[in-house]
Amino acid sequence: MSSGSFESLSHENRKFPPAQSFSKNAHISSLEQYSKLYAESEKNPDAFWKAQSENLKWSKPFKTILEWDEPFAKWFDGGELNASVQCLDKHKGTSVWNKTALIWEGENEDKKSLTYSELSQLTNRTASALKTLGVKKGDIVTIYMPLVPEVIAAMLACARLGAAHSVVFAGFSSQALRDRINDSQSQTVITADGVSRKGKILDLKSEVDRALQNSPTVKRVVVLKRAENTVNMTVGRDFWWHEIVPKAAECEPVACQSEDLLFTLYTSGTTGKPKGIMHSTAGYCLWTQLSTKWVFDIKAEDIYWCTADVGWVTGHSYVVYGPLQLGATVFLYEGAPNYPDWGRFWKMIQNYKITILYTAPTAIRAFMGQGEDIPNKYNLSSLRLLGSVGEPINPEAWLWYNRVIGKEKCPIVDTWWQTETGGIMISPLPGATTTKPGSCTLPLPGIFPAVVSKEGRSSKPNEGGYLIITRPWPSMARGIWGDPERFKQTYWSEHKGVYFAGDGARQDQDGYFWVMGRIDDVINVSGHRLGTAEIESALVSHEAVVEAAVVGRPDALKGQSVVAFVTVEKSWKDRADDKMIQELKSHVSKEIGALARPDEIRFTDSLPKTRSGKIMRRLLKEIATNGVAIGDTTTLEDAKVLEALSNED
Ligand code: WTA
Repeated sequence: MSSGSFESLSHENRKFPPAQSFSKNAHISSLEQYSKLYAESEKNPDAFWKAQSENLKWSKPFKTILEWDEPFAKWFDGGELNASVQCLDKHKGTSVWNKTALIWEGENEDKKSLTYSELSQLTNRTASALKTLGVKKGDIVTIYMPLVPEVIAAMLACARLGAAHSVVFAGFSSQALRDRINDSQSQTVITADGVSRKGKILDLKSEVDRALQNSPTVKRVVVLKRAENTVNMTVGRDFWWHEIVPKAAECEPVACQSEDLLFTLYTSGTTGKPKGIMHSTAGYCLWTQLSTKWVFDIKAEDIYWCTADVGWVTGHSYVVYGPLQLGATVFLYEGAPNYPDWGRFWKMIQNYKITILYTAPTAIRAFMGQGEDIPNKYNLSSLRLLGSVGEPINPEAWLWYNRVIGKEKCPIVDTWWQTETGGIMISPLPGATTTKPGSCTLPLPGIFPAVVSKEGRSSKPNEGGYLIITRPWPSMARGIWGDPERFKQTYWSEHKGVYFAGDGARQDQDGYFWVMGRIDDVINVSGHRLGTAEIESALVSHEAVVEAAVVGRPDALKGQSVVAFVTVEKSWKDRADDKMIQELKSHVSKEIGALARPDEIRFTDSLPKTRSGKIMRRLLKEIATNGVAIGDTTTLEDAKVLEALSNED
């Protein structure tokens, strides 16, 4: 278990702020209403889901609600619909149509806004241009773009054509992009000439060009011009967005089956390369819509800001699909939170009168570290609801967020979920749930999580265990792209018949969930999920490295930091110095992206292994955290190795 975070969460003796009074107009406005809905979803799931499915716009009604062939679910089989219709066309003829859908601000304070009707037009034209280039239903389109309105149009354009998108975060390197393109066999890439970060333009198109040297399936690349960057265009393969999109026509939505693939999104696992998590159309649309409505309580007049990039699942579900289905006004900021200074977020909240803010604990801790004088300079009175996602939030950060940003009047929704769950599973509902700092509280209606021991026995109150979900839900992952066996193995083998989340958790005496963090070899750095195996293979791909083991170390700011233990080839031993440490760190950035760059690299003659040859990560974690290993070492192959490691520094 990711040590440290559990203890920092178990501040049970604190005085909790009383439940904030929240608008009585909240979609779920009392504990009684929540409990009633939850009980209905438990007793009669079919009736519950059937009633909820009416929130979608169907072009053909479905026949069955759930067909469950564990672990493969079919929700709303026989039905037809299109995800872009749920987000756009559905609003035609309502007051939403001419309302602002997106407000965008770039780092240099350039601004843009689009109404629903304008976003619909842009999406239609993008879809039509893609269709002319040959994109069709069933294709996978890789999107590698900055956070600009066009990236949302690109995602929805794919959905309109029945093509699945595979969004790759623009902070990933060309190698990481290549791996994702090759795994999905994608034929189309949509990118831009640049992305701005802290005043610099990073050249995205060159990353794509480098990736495509080894990605033979790609036939076409669409490039959005937004930076004055000189880029190479390959004739016959590369097309400028501005030359093909503005003149394109409207595009009718393709009728998709409920279970047609809406997107794949690559995420880190415990072994090897990232896996393409698959999400299908109807279930995902339904759950992102419902969870956004219940958790964020979005109203017509809200200006809603989820700070995630669309390269992550939070961006998919709570920047794009959830809020747009509800006709919300979504704010987007492309840039760093501290550019030009640490007041940037608060200035934008003041200027745009943002009412709902959804961000990650890492960001909150970073702001906290800069002192409350900075947010106090701005008028944050427009805020009415605050959210947290991506990692456990420590009570100190929770209390600071509540007091300094929310002025003790905004409920905080600490939302637990994963790429694989598609949407929020456990979270307070702002009108109903009394919060406890550090707890994601209670499951949403229709969701049945539990905490169990390794043997599958229910954990007692406050006893730590494994977080599982016992019943299927509409937005659950439908598989891992190209690897159904791995899907079964990873999520459905640990305990029979239930979904294994890979997180450690406990439930307190009130039934509240406290998620402690990953229990597998996945680490969470600044709310970003990284597979230790992925970083290890990046390190080993350097000619000097023979073997590497990567572990997470608790970090006050980032949640966890990356520590790598590395053994080098004999002929490189003399050169195992600071310069080489820098070189290896840069090598990981090049292989995966700056987000995976190790914080610390330690050289060692060999790594501690069990007699069967498995690296003893638990011990390495202890060494990385405490400097020495105090746990059981009886299975160590060579206890001396451990001694040598412990004494380092
Ligand atoms: C962690 C992000 C504690 C958890 C939506 C999970 C959290 C992983 C919380 C998924 C939370 C996410 N409290 N831990 N509120 N939210 N996590 O796939 O370890 O990028 O398994 O999805 O983030 O990360 P992913």
